[in-house]
Parts: sequence; structure tokens; C-alpha cells
Amino acid sequence: DEQRIEAWRPLLEQIDARMELRAAGPGAAALQELANGIEILTGTPPSLTLKAGSPPVIVLGSPQAAQRSLEELKALPLAEEAYALRIGAASENENQDGEQAAYAILRGGSERGLLYGAFALLRLIDSDPRGPRDLDLAESPRNPLRMIDQWDNMDGSVERGYSGGSIFYRDNRILLESPRIDDYARLLASVGINAISVNNVNVHREETKLITSALLPDVRRLSDTFGRYGIQLFLSVNYAAPIELGELDTADPLNTDVQHWWQRKVAEIYAAVPDFGGFVVKADSENRPGPFTYGRDHADGANLLADALAPHGGLVMWRCFVYDCHQDWRDRSTDRARAAYDHFRDLDGRFRDNVVLQIKNGPMDFQVREPVSPLFGAMPRTNQVMEFQIAQEYTGQQRDICFLVPQWKKSLDFDTLLNGAGCTVKQIAAGKVHPFTRSGVAAVSNIGNDDNWTGHHLAQANLFGFGRLAWNPELESDAIAEEWSALTFGADTPVARFVAKLLLESWPVYESYTAPLGVGWMVQPHYHYAVDVDGYEYSKWGTYHFADRDGLGVDRTLATGTGYTGQYADENRDRYDSLEECPDELLLFFHHVPYTHVLKSGKTVIQHIYDSRFEGADAVDRWIARWRELEADVDPERFAHILHRLEGQSENAKQWRDAVNTYFYRKSGIPDERERTVYA
Ligand code: GCU
Repeated sequence: DEQRIEAWRPLLEQIDARMELRAAGPGAAALQELANGIEILTGTPPSLTLKAGSPPVIVLGSPQAAQRSLEELKALPLAEEAYALRIGAASENENQDGEQAAYAILRGGSERGLLYGAFALLRLIDSDPRGPRDLDLAESPRNPLRMIDQWDNMDGSVERGYSGGSIFYRDNRILLESPRIDDYARLLASVGINAISVNNVNVHREETKLITSALLPDVRRLSDTFGRYGIQLFLSVNYAAPIELGELDTADPLNTDVQHWWQRKVAEIYAAVPDFGGFVVKADSENRPGPFTYGRDHADGANLLADALAPHGGLVMWRCFVYDCHQDWRDRSTDRARAAYDHFRDLDGRFRDNVVLQIKNGPMDFQVREPVSPLFGAMPRTNQVMEFQIAQEYTGQQRDICFLVPQWKKSLDFDTLLNGAGCTVKQIAAGKVHPFTRSGVAAVSNIGNDDNWTGHHLAQANLFGFGRLAWNPELESDAIAEEWSALTFGADTPVARFVAKLLLESWPVYESYTAPLGVGWMVQPHYHYAVDVDGYEYSKWGTYHFADRDGLGVDRTLATGTGYTGQYADENRDRYDSLEECPDELLLFFHHVPYTHVLKSGKTVIQHIYDSRFEGADAVDRWIARWRELEADVDPERFAHILHRLEGQSENAKQWRDAVNTYFYRKSGIPDERERTVYA
């Protein structure tokens, strides 16, 4: 490592920057991050010169050697968030005395682009084992919106938070003095995030007041903190705010008093918070208020807020997580998976330009395995973002390791076939398929005030990975896992190599000991971590597996089931409808089959259930054995922490294995072919 840093040193001793001279913009942040980063890496602060000029550029190393490239790069047309990075490290740049002639030039399409470039350079120095080499790179983010949603409450709790309390709030106050907020902005900017919503989508009494004069000055300070790192601030709002704040007795979107109320409210917000991004709204969802109360639809509801925000350039992120959460399990015709499409699809064309529909990646709720939501891409005239969950609510709660990048890539790569082949989710999100004015990806954060931010140290890889993928969905999962591991445990070390491998195995392993073949749920109600096969089976939540003595799974086919498959483009519908063609991993999401049904793998469903539960639990024990071997190569604190979490995961995996196996053995009466221990 030291040798590698030494090779970089000639480039890192001197920084010459040109940009607008503002104290608190992303350009200043870029300079500061570079200077800090270089000091941490080399032990020496670089010498700095800053002059006024545009476009914003930073030259590292020899200004003479950089001169010609600098003129070229200045003339390069760059999109607003883009950056160009050129490194001249080759020997032809050397002057008579040797090293000093190496250079690196960073040019931003804006100061924000420059900031992304600064982090990219630091990442390169810190994770590329090859050391400095000639490089000519121009990058711009594929997704216009790259957003993080906090589910933080003002009492300091975090809904579905698995890493301590909120870094934003305590005792119904905003923690303005907290250095964690500033560091969080830096973390997010380092992977290219450009928007954040800072409070839970379930907006309770105190959070409803975030848009009042009492709290707006504090919101402004938060907005400034994030704005310095190029991140725009959003708030989740209560649809019934005019009533909850005691000012009107209705929230009917077609009522002119309500319309005027929101117009005045939004003007007040922008007067206090000039860079405000807009609202996130969870309406008519899980008992939250919404336009249905007044016999209006979601277009009426979203447009009410959109019209108020439009004059100020604000957006409405309107969530499509709308379904009947008071379902009767006896009623086999209602299918929760259908709900978002059924509620929203026919409203296409009715939403304003500054409304963005926020659609969960799957039709249910962030399960370990789901098909892609058929609503995504199915509304050509309505802006959309796909919503992911970095918080591991159903995927191990940051106690078990589950690196979700491969899962998200599976969604992003899915070909919806909506306008013929090649209409993948990532193309739609990037705004390349439909004429979206705003689109991209959003995700529920996984951080809290734990020292390591994410509860499980390795869960940091998910936050990092989301940002990297939001920037460029073409990046491969292994590249992201390796990059994070190298940055965290040292480039090209045994620990980094093992951690990358473990991360890549972790989603399949988590899937293999929990709910089988895409059926989902089977978790303890409300908590969603431990196994409880029938926990949701007779509930009102629309989340069933329908296991009986002959088989299990949910028939969602057109011919005999709920008809959910009909929400996909014909070819995808036919593939999911067909027992032969439906991918094994989603079989029980789409079909109810006998335990003796033979999968493409050649195994019966029941044998697959047994085998994969055993394999999953065994894999965790193998990780533990390997981790123990690495004890001398990692600091004691992280060694012990990760070991402790792995041991917890092993317990959990065994509990899942035995509960699931026993449950299906009792139902089916079919023993394990391999005669392993399945409790009777
Ligand atoms: C899940 C989660 C809730 C959350 C909801 C949402 O159902 O369990 O806590 O509020 O998603 O996305 O709105």
C-alpha cells in the first residue's frame, strides 16, 4: 500500500483550482475533500492555490505538464453533473529531474460535477492496486434523480432502522449541532447521491410541523448542509396537513381553499428554504390519509401539490405503495400484487410534469425475491422512479449479511418488453425510453447513529453500492463489491478478497435459508426478521403462501389465478404463466404447485426446500471458519464485531432451516431424500 501511495505522491503535492469563489458550494467541498483525502493518504497536506474562473477545474501535480490537456478539457462539452478526469502519469511527462511532471486534471460540468470527480479520483487512488497510470475519462450519471429516503421520526426513532437511532432528530428537535449530518452529506455525495428526503414517509403529528414557521429555519440549515454537497432536500408531508395543523376542515384536492392553502404553504417553504426540492407523499397507503377520502383519485391528489410546487421548480414524489391492508384472507380473488398497477396505470397522462411516481421494485414489499413491478414503464406519459430498500427490513435487518446490489441489478436489468425488446428498467429509469422530464432511482436508507453507521459493518456496502449503481447501473456487482472491500479493508488484501466474495454470496445464501422460490413473507409479523411460516397466513395484509398438504404457492396466472401476470407485456406474461418457462426462483410467486413438482434444476419442490435450507445454514458456518482464519489480518474491533454478527446469522439460519423444513415435512409427509435431520 505504501509503495502505491508513494507512486501517487508527485501528483498529490500541489493543487491549483479555478472556480467561482463561493465559500459554501460543491466546488469548495470538492477542494476540501481532495485536500483532506490527500492528507489522510500521504500524511502531508497539499499546497493549494485557488483563483476565480470557469469552467470549474482542479489541476494536481505539474501545471506545466498539464497545460495542453487543460486547454482541451476546458473546451470539452460536459453535462451539468458530469466530470472529466485526465491523468498523465507516463514517463514522457517527466522533466529532466524526474517525477514532478505527472499531473491529473479534474473538470466539472458544474461544481457538482467537480465534486463527483474529486471523489472518483480519491476512490481510484485508494482502491486501484495498479497505482497511477495514464487515464482519460468522462463520466456522467445515468439517472437524473439519485435519491435517498430517510424513514426517521422526530422522536429519534427510525422506522425499520437497524443501526441505532436517528442522526437527524431527538426529542422532537432537529440535531443541528450534530457532526454526523455533515458527514452523512459527504458520504452520500461521495457516491453521487443528489437528493434526500429527511423524514419518514409515515408523517406523524410532530413531523407534520416540519413545514411550519417554527421548524422551517432548522430545515433551511439542513438544506444548506446537504446543498453544500450538491444534495437537494425534500420533506415527506402529511396529505392531511391542512386539517392536522388546524387550519382547514378538509384536504379535498379539488377544494379551492385547500389549493390556496398549499400554494401559500409552498411559497412560505421556498421563502425559508430557497433550494428546497419538493415533497415525498405516502397517501391512501397503510392507513395514511389521501385523496380517496374525498372520492378523488391519485392524479387529483398529486396534482394539487404539484401545482403549488411548480412555480418554484419543486417536485412531488408520489408513492405507489397503495393496496388494501385490511384484506380478508378467506377471499382468494383479491391479490395485493395487483394493487399498484390497478390503482395507477389508467391515470397515465393525468399527472403534471413535476409529479414523479415512486414505485417499489417489486409488487409486494421489498421481499428477498420478487418479480419487477409491472407498473414500472407501463405509464409512458408519467415520470417514474424505482424505489429500493437499502435498509434490510426483510433481508436480515443488518444482523445477517445480505449484499443487495445483485438483487437491485436484477430489477434494473429486467426487460419489460413494453416497447419491444431493450426496454429495460434501467433504460426507463434513465429516461431513455419514455419522454420523462424527471426520473431515476430512490432508496430507503440503512443508516443510524451507531458508531459504524449501519449496525453490521458490512451493511455499509449496500449504501455505497446503491449510490454506485444509481450513478451507473452498468457497473457489475463484483466490481462494486471489490471496490468497497478494497476501500474498506485495503486494496488487494486477503481480507478484502474474502469480504468481496462473502458479499457476493450473501443474497443467494440469505434466500436459501429463508422463504423458498419467491413465495416471500413467512416472517414474524411486524418485526420481519425471525421465521414464522404462518405468521402472515391468516392476516389482513394480503401476504399468503397457501400451503396445504399437497402443495404451496400463489396462483397469479391468467387462466386459473388472480390474473396478475396479465399486467406484464405479452411475452413476459406468457413466460410467467407457463409452468415450464417460469424461472424456478419465482415459481411460487406465480404458481401453486404440488410438493412433487419437478423444478428446472431436476429437484422436486420439497427436496429443493430441504436442500437449500441445509446449504444456506452450512454456508454461513463456512464463512465463520474462513473469517476466523483471517483474525491476524484485520483490526481486533472489526474482527470481533463481524464474528459476532456471523454467529448470530448462523443461529438465525438454523432456526429458519429447521422451522421451514419441519413445517413442510409435517404438511407434506414427504421425508428428505438424503435423510438429514428434519424434526418431525
Ligand atoms: C413497509 C414497511 C413499513 C413502511 C412501508 C412503506 O410496509 O414495513 O414500515 O412504512 O413499507 O414503504 O411505506
